[in-house]
Amino acid sequence: MSLILWTVLGYLLGSIPFGMVIARLLGLGDLRQIGSGNIGATNVLRTGSKRAALATVLLDSGKGALAVLLARYFAGDVAAMLAGGAAFLGHCFPVWLGFRGGKGVATFLGTLIALHWPLGLGACAIWLLTAIISRISSLSALIAAAFAPVLAWAMGRSDLILICLFITALIFIRHKTNITRLLDGSEPRIGRK
Ligand code: G3P
Repeated sequence: MSLILWTVLGYLLGSIPFGMVIARLLGLGDLRQIGSGNIGATNVLRTGSKRAALATVLLDSGKGALAVLLARYFAGDVAAMLAGGAAFLGHCFPVWLGFRGGKGVATFLGTLIALHWPLGLGACAIWLLTAIISRISSLSALIAAAFAPVLAWAMGRSDLILICLFITALIFIRHKTNITRLLDGSEPRIGRK
């Protein structure tokens, strides 16, 4: 019962579309009509507000981390994994937006940090390094996501490989249009429309 409860709570927490809320509150417009139309921090940055983009990264990653930490505190490690996976799903498929949500990258990183911080920081470092070299957010996300299950294995956390594989697969599916643009060379650099 408690596992179902934490999965539902994780989903509800993850489904709060912070990027959209922040953009609306700051009068930056409707993210669906801007840039890629995505509700994540990369697209919030396309409004020109670094402050709003930073707040979106922190809140979108924070909701994944919070779901994991609360579930672990009250119900243990399995509940923590379920709550983190559900928070990620909530971000990608929020009931409030007709299940049309974001790509889950910040929520994925926050969830990983809370599940096992060396793994989360490792994935963040890969994202950052790729972003510095390529200046492309989606490419950084795809590479960080691809490495996550490998890092989990290399760090001796085979219990986290399955959740990593699940999230990695969904991140690739959610980046379908980005992958098409990456392949034809038209994916915009960070901050560009
Ligand atoms: O974190 C989302 C990023 O990987 C891609 O965002 O807006 O360029 O599709 P966007």
